[in-house]
Amino acid sequence: MPGIRITVADGPDGFDRAAADEIGSTIRACPRAAVVVATGRTPMGPYARLADDLSADATGDLRVFQLDEYLGIPRSDPRSLASWTRRSFVEPLGIEPASVHWFDAMADDPDAECRRYEGAVAEAGGFDLAVLGLGPNGHLGFNEPPSDPMSGTRVVPLTEESLASNAAYVPGEPVPTEAFTAGLDLLLATRRVVLVVSGRTKHEIVHRALDGPVTAQVPASFLQEHPDLAVVVDADAWGA
Ligand code: PGA
Repeated sequence: MPGIRITVADGPDGFDRAAADEIGSTIRACPRAAVVVATGRTPMGPYARLADDLSADATGDLRVFQLDEYLGIPRSDPRSLASWTRRSFVEPLGIEPASVHWFDAMADDPDAECRRYEGAVAEAGGFDLAVLGLGPNGHLGFNEPPSDPMSGTRVVPLTEESLASNAAYVPGEPVPTEAFTAGLDLLLATRRVVLVVSGRTKHEIVHRALDGPVTAQVPASFLQEHPDLAVVVDADAWGA
């Protein structure tokens, strides 16, 4: 697979180190990068490591975009993905609040909000770097299967698999059923993608995504055609 580098890391420390190195090298090389960043469990260790590695000088000019957000969930809600992005990435890395582009989860007109987001990405010159997790169903952001590669930024109903996995993020709270997502079109057009995957439960899907047929049924499989993809996967997910 040309353009794809796969690092299989041992143990949580090795995983966090390898992922932080992949993300950090792009940020160092491109301090004004437009970066779209995932929430989820997998990138949390890498973000903490990155915050230790990078001085505010290295991150002060970054432009950050939220990857996805639950429809109708305000930032004050513990389930808000904006507040998770702020706590885990924006604040620890010392990003200027004015340089962060959020979805307005409460927008009266969600379609117009998607067009506004796409306009902001276009104005930034597209994404330079995407840090993405891999959904249990092969989603990227909330581009749920089936998603074709030209899928735009939109509000999507979440699949059963995503609902089950999201339920664990904030136990005891009802799981939102619809979400904004950056379009697969924007993510695939990103200049450099770092995909982080960990845990035994991702074993089958990571191989379907990287070694299986390229299909809308596994949206992440379109990354096989990406010219600059770094995959950091732990040994549990990759398997023997
Ligand atoms: P996870 O989520 O990092 O919590 O496994 C990944 C995803 O659903 O995209």
